[in-house]
Amino acid sequence: MRQIALIDANDKANYVQWFRNSSPYINAFRDRTFVIAFGGEMLADAQFAPLVHDLALLNSLGVRLVLVHGARPQIEQRLNEQGIKLNYANDIRITDDEALKCVKQASGSVRVEIEALLSMGVSNTPMDSADIRVASGNYVIAKPIGILDGIDFQHTGEVRRIDDEAIHTHLDEGAIVLLSPLGYSPTGEIFNLTAEDVATAAAIQLQADKLIYLVDNDGVSDGQQLIRELTLAEIEKLSLSEQAKDIQKCLHSAVQVCHSGVPRTHLINRHIDGSILLELFTRDGLGTLITAESFEDTRQAAIDDVGGLLELIEPLEDEGVLVRRSRERLEMEIDHFTVVERDGMIVACAALYPYVKEKMAELACLVVHPDYRKQNRADMLFSYLEKQAKQDGINSIFVLTTRTAHWFQERGFNEIDIKKLPMEKQALYNYQRNSKVFMKKI
Ligand SMILES: CC(C)(COP(=O)(O)OP(=O)(O)OC[C@H]1O[C@@H](n2cnc3c(N)ncnc32)[C@H](O)[C@@H]1OP(=O)(O)O)[C@@H](O)C(=O)NCCC(=O)NCCS
Repeated sequence: MRQIALIDANDKANYVQWFRNSSPYINAFRDRTFVIAFGGEMLADAQFAPLVHDLALLNSLGVRLVLVHGARPQIEQRLNEQGIKLNYANDIRITDDEALKCVKQASGSVRVEIEALLSMGVSNTPMDSADIRVASGNYVIAKPIGILDGIDFQHTGEVRRIDDEAIHTHLDEGAIVLLSPLGYSPTGEIFNLTAEDVATAAAIQLQADKLIYLVDNDGVSDGQQLIRELTLAEIEKLSLSEQAKDIQKCLHSAVQVCHSGVPRTHLINRHIDGSILLELFTRDGLGTLITAESFEDTRQAAIDDVGGLLELIEPLEDEGVLVRRSRERLEMEIDHFTVVERDGMIVACAALYPYVKEKMAELACLVVHPDYRKQNRADMLFSYLEKQAKQDGINSIFVLTTRTAHWFQERGFNEIDIKKLPMEKQALYNYQRNSKVFMKKI
């Protein structure tokens, strides 16, 4: 309390605002699984101790954390000390017997250092008393890369599978799981892996909600500025050779995980204090976010969709969740609708009604077919609409709802007074229905 009293009024207001803005994310992240990968360079970075603090914080908020560390600089240092040269072919390390010894030592010492830092808790911070348990072990099963183009890669391997059961057990107990870039084969051999390979496999097999890479720069750049959001289709159009090597690897990984159902990959700058919190708990984040957005086929609705749309929304109109729309009204307003079509069936829809003068738009009729819920479809559809609205110069989206308030609040919408709505909309407000009004700046 004393500390709060010392901050000036301005800081207090900012703090309260920040906390309020973060709360939807805090709720949304509870029990979610995040795989967070960083190179061995991170350990030497001034931001490593603050990062550990932030990981402890995420852990205490109920986020299920799997950390994947690299050890490249530590391995290279050991090899140099012993005068061993690491050979590469096709950009892949060849790990001979001598190199494997260095890999084992380096990975072991990095792992122990991370475990020590995490066990220290976060002294002299408000998280001082947080006990963090770290679980590491033989959770990565690997196989040799083998011989490629006549070159034997020896102890360099690739992930065969992840022991997801063991990892989930530890996560269920509230522990943080730490994975090293080493894998074990059922024959008892050890293989040198890349952290990206381990992180990719872990994210896919654990069906993580997010894969987060802490990288050396701000994220993916178009040569001039940072690209904040990328879809898979946009990645295909990128000239990958213009990106830094580590970014190329992360993008390759992001594409793989997205195709396998991991909805979001984040690339964030490891040199910025609190970068992980800024990325996760602020609306715009600070790095590059990669989403599948395959949208199945997400497209503007056409007149032929009216039948499918009615099938989707009528049950909810009957329940009173949605305002009833006649077929005629739907036909007239069809241009405002966006639908998600899967194998010829409309599985989700939403409508956006712009108020151009006020730079606002109303989101309405957001529905996912009950058989297709629980797969982030509404989130994806909403970000699709948000992107479109932004392109059309809209600054904020509002929604009137009677039964779905929390869903919107958890996604950054705040309740507002009806008077803040465009006059035209205020005039149509149905006082009997008594919907709450929420708005989100985009
Ligand atoms: C809201 C809706 C579009 C979300 O669809 P979805 O992306 O498939 O997501 P889910 O149904 O899996 O729900 C995602 C999360 O939102 C929550 N949620 C769903 N409906 C909610 C509601 N009415 N209020 C608060 N939270 C809700 C779910 O519990 C789930 O959270 P959890 O996984 O932490 O439990 C879908 O539930 C729906 O079609 N609802 C009926 C129509 C509706 O209410 N539309 C909004 C009015 S315009």
